[in-house]
Amino acid sequence: MQIHRFEAGLEGRVALVTGAAIGNGRAFCERFAEEGAAVAIADIADASETVAAVREITNRVRAYQGDLTIPDTVQQIVEQVERDFGRIDVLVHNVGLYEEEPFELLTFEQWKRMLQVCLDPLFLTAHAVLPRMKRQGFGRIIALSSNTIWLGTPYLVHYVTAKSAIVGFVRSLAAEVGQYGITVNAITVGVTATQDPTDRPMNRTLLKDILPSQCIHRADEPHDIANVVAFLAMPAASIITGQVINVDGGVARH
Ligand SMILES: NC(=O)c1ccc[n+]([C@@H]2O[C@H](COP(=O)([O-])OP(=O)(O)OC[C@H]3O[C@@H](n4cnc5c(N)ncnc54)[C@H](O)[C@@H]3O)[C@@H](O)[C@H]2O)c1
Repeated sequence: MQIHRFEAGLEGRVALVTGAAIGNGRAFCERFAEEGAAVAIADIADASETVAAVREITNRVRAYQGDLTIPDTVQQIVEQVERDFGRIDVLVHNVGLYEEEPFELLTFEQWKRMLQVCLDPLFLTAHAVLPRMKRQGFGRIIALSSNTIWLGTPYLVHYVTAKSAIVGFVRSLAAEVGQYGITVNAITVGVTATQDPTDRPMNRTLLKDILPSQCIHRADEPHDIANVVAFLAMPAASIITGQVINVDGGVARH
């Protein structure tokens, strides 16, 4: 009988994680480093705390600061990552913006800003890394969405719309680039203990309902999401593409 062992590890790989100055993104960077990958962090904010955390594991880490909604900035950062590390195997689109607003109070400016921050970096970074991934014959694009797209959570029309668009993006791009050994997937995340959830007004009112509505009655931690991100990046996940994986303790069971 032939035994197919789980092909784990990311030794020699290079992962570019966007929006990793804080929260989930920092956990992804640490996990990639633990798996043997070099880590490039792109964020509009200072990511030195994430760099310091990853340095505990590897010296192969660097942060690139810039606004990832600006095409030239993204191009320059991706070119610099290629110069510094020689390749880009994994792109994690993790940049996000969270804001609660009743629809009637939501302005057109808020709507446009949400779509811009949640989607433009995905388009721009994927566009910039794809030629290299094609040449390598290997690539992993993993985009962070939200379980609110399954739940239709109120006061988040702009956010839920933007996070839903990520699903369309991964489904369509996956079909285009699978022939080059590139997979494209999304993860829908539930409320994660990246910060005190009571800081968020909606979470303050909904928090009492969230844990009981989960199948697993404990808060999602960044490392829970990082486990799935790391798995999708591995050779073992080479047949999984165009998918949306829900990681929220079982609130949404779609
Ligand atoms: N934390 C949660 O409870 C939760 C729940 C569902 C989904 N998510 C998703 O997971 C991802 C990470 O969430 P989080 O809470 O850790 O972080 P976050 O959403 O608060 O921010 C992520 C990072 O994006 C960066 N960023 C914002 N605009 C940028 C820009 N124009 N250019 C470059 N960087 C920019 C920020 O500086 C920050 O470091 C996001 O996509 C978020 O929508 C989070």
